[in-house]
Amino acid sequence: MIKKLSTGLLLMIACSANATDEYSKELYDIYCTACHAVAASGAPQAFTSEWDERLDKGMTTLVNHAINGIGNMPPMGTCAECSAEDLEDIIRYMAQEQ
Ligand code: HEC
Repeated sequence: MIKKLSTGLLLMIACSANATDEYSKELYDIYCTACHAVAASGAPQAFTSEWDERLDKGMTTLVNHAINGIGNMPPMGTCAECSAEDLEDIIRYMAQEQ
């Protein structure tokens, strides 16, 4: 936990937070919008409170489910190039209410 936190801090210092956000946004736009911006897909919709109960499971569980797939959610959300960190960043981005 502490190690993870300090890695996150280092990352934030190393690259501007803005660049990371842009990259997550790009990946989200390419790979995740097909379902997470289409209510009929049954996926929790991005930027809504639908993420609240999902977040209660904990980020580690969510990232694992994103990697392995869950229900109608395909493994990696179809993003073969995404790392676990990328998926975590996208999930944080999608789970923001706007
Ligand atoms: C083909 C449609 C589809 C795509 C593409 C997709 N998802 Fe999903 N996703 C779903 C569905 C459907 C669910 C709900 C699954 C369930 O709970 O049964 C879901 C749920 C999730 C969850 C919640 C898992 C949980 O444990 O509650 C996460 C996290 C997630 N998606 C991340 C992503 C990310 C990140 C991407 C893009 C890289 C992505 N998804 C792309 C359909 C999709």
